[in-house]
Amino acid sequence: MSYYQVKNLEQYFKHYNKSIREPRKFWDKIADENFTWYQKWDKVVEFDMQEAEVKWFLNAKVNITKNCIDRHLAKRGEKTAIIFEPNDPKEEAQHITYNELYDRVAKMANVLRDQGIKKGDRVCIYLPMIPELAVSVLACARIGAIHSVVFAGFSASAVTARINDSDCKMVITSDGGFRGSKSIDLKVIIDEALEKSPSVEKVLVVKRTNASVNIKEGRDIWLQPLLDAAVPNNVAEIMDAEDPLFILYTSGSTGKPKGMLHTTAGYMVFSAYTFKNIFNYEENDVFWCTADIGWITGHSYILYGPLLNGATTVIFEGIPSYPDFGRFWEVIDKHKVTQFYTAPTAIRSLAKENTDWVENHDLSTLKVIGSVGEPINEEAWHWYNNHVGKKRCPVVDTWWQTETGGIMISPLPFVTPTKPTYATFPLPGVQAVLMDERRNEIEDNQVVGSLCIKFPWPGMARTIWGDHQRFKETYFTAFPGKYFTGDGALRDEVGYYRITGRVDDVVIVSGHNLGTAPIEDAINEHPAVAESAIVGFPHDIKGNALYGFIILKESGESRDRANLANEINQHVSSHIGPIAKLDKIQFVTGLPKTRSGKIMRRILRKIAEGDYSNFGDTSTLLNPEIVEEIKQGKL
Ligand code: PRX
Repeated sequence: MSYYQVKNLEQYFKHYNKSIREPRKFWDKIADENFTWYQKWDKVVEFDMQEAEVKWFLNAKVNITKNCIDRHLAKRGEKTAIIFEPNDPKEEAQHITYNELYDRVAKMANVLRDQGIKKGDRVCIYLPMIPELAVSVLACARIGAIHSVVFAGFSASAVTARINDSDCKMVITSDGGFRGSKSIDLKVIIDEALEKSPSVEKVLVVKRTNASVNIKEGRDIWLQPLLDAAVPNNVAEIMDAEDPLFILYTSGSTGKPKGMLHTTAGYMVFSAYTFKNIFNYEENDVFWCTADIGWITGHSYILYGPLLNGATTVIFEGIPSYPDFGRFWEVIDKHKVTQFYTAPTAIRSLAKENTDWVENHDLSTLKVIGSVGEPINEEAWHWYNNHVGKKRCPVVDTWWQTETGGIMISPLPFVTPTKPTYATFPLPGVQAVLMDERRNEIEDNQVVGSLCIKFPWPGMARTIWGDHQRFKETYFTAFPGKYFTGDGALRDEVGYYRITGRVDDVVIVSGHNLGTAPIEDAINEHPAVAESAIVGFPHDIKGNALYGFIILKESGESRDRANLANEINQHVSSHIGPIAKLDKIQFVTGLPKTRSGKIMRRILRKIAEGDYSNFGDTSTLLNPEIVEEIKQGKL
């Protein structure tokens, strides 16, 4: 892999400017030099950003798994592709070579075909962080089935919504999953989810926890016997560059999750390119990203990015605090990890523990450490830099989204001087801009604005599954002709970007993107609740936590408030998942609304934060008196 070599800032600027002047030439070269194609493209890119129509590498033919696995076999067949580190440190780690990965993916691909899965079919994968998750994802890609990985912490109704939205034909799950000292019965959740999912014909079940499961005749099948009988060879499906690769759901500011659709060639080129350059990947490195494969970070930087580069990637089943707070550092020490990529929430939760937990392990193999998913506060940045990176590993604060497919703004290690809380410069090929309220591009530095991207990049999502209109409205109408990220950002005097946070109704809790609307919908379904509004407020560990303002129905008025609050939280957990739990609930008699009936969340956000100084313009409020009442109720 070559991509490009930037050795210093001067070269970065030169390279960046060239990528902006000649984007087609830039991406053409990267795609041409670093991948195996059945057939190359007629045209690098075709787009209409007004209509949200984008295509890359037109008419090229490729299979991403040939690039992730097959082409490495001659040189790296016996190299470890995946290190599986189980939840329980007493269980032995597994080292899966590229040769073994080939066999396992080929067998799984054959099983999928035998079970009636064809190119274009959607397969929902609901698995814990075990090798079968990686193998299932790759097997789908091998035969051209569209994988839709659903994080195995989502509740049954959230799974149902995702399966039904894309009419999945199959679910791949397990009896259960281990998480710290707990085990979760995933098959039970799937059984409940499938009561309302008519499109699912087959369920393949992996054995992991040995929990007893209900096997529904004709629908559910244990996976292992099928794999044992399968042939370890598989001819990959020839995919068009723009054939769908996967759907991954992300929260939006309305109730329904958005199934972001990523396509084959562009995603392949972008995930590989960003991985190589942002983590300074070299041949014998061991890369560890602690995300779950159920999120985009796991898709791009546990699986596709590393494997496309022939790297060794760690899949970790556990959590940072089990069996103790030294677990991450022990794993780095044990597997000689060279690049470590995690989330600010994890850093903050470990930074509050004794530093002995980290100091007692040998982290000298580390070269680059990364952060992703939410703004990293200064204190956490310094702790990470001092105690983990020992001030010698650059901290790459990487900004990106499910929609972008890969990292967009980030320091390049040993090239871009890092600055706490700043994601710094856009990558070559990424045309980031700030827009003002009048929809004009801001040329100056030392400004804040709405972060947009003004030219397509290969890894961008192409649509929302089944709803192109929503795709266009969500991302391409606020600033016509540009992709709007939904984030606000500040650009400092040298042009470094600092992401200030969401400007829409999405709250990032412990690095998870949560739309407030689906949570409100779940709360409003509780029989005692008339109406609710959810906002985020700052939290030391989670970054943000959820604050719910809830109006009760008359029938709920006489209920014990503490009990009711618990019940409401359980209701939210069972509808969305435990990650959506409210940290604070305040029962109120009304919500501040504009004359057009819109809840003024800006005010609720201020109250939740405890900032009563300036509520801004309240002249459009229909019921200004309620603001004082809510404020008093909180004090
Ligand atoms: O608000 C930004 C925040 O996470 C959002 C994207 O969330 P999601 O699609 O779940 O993807 C997370 C993993 C890529 C963004 O709109 N975000 C992500 N990375 C950063 C960040 N905010 C600040 N700094 C970051 N490095």
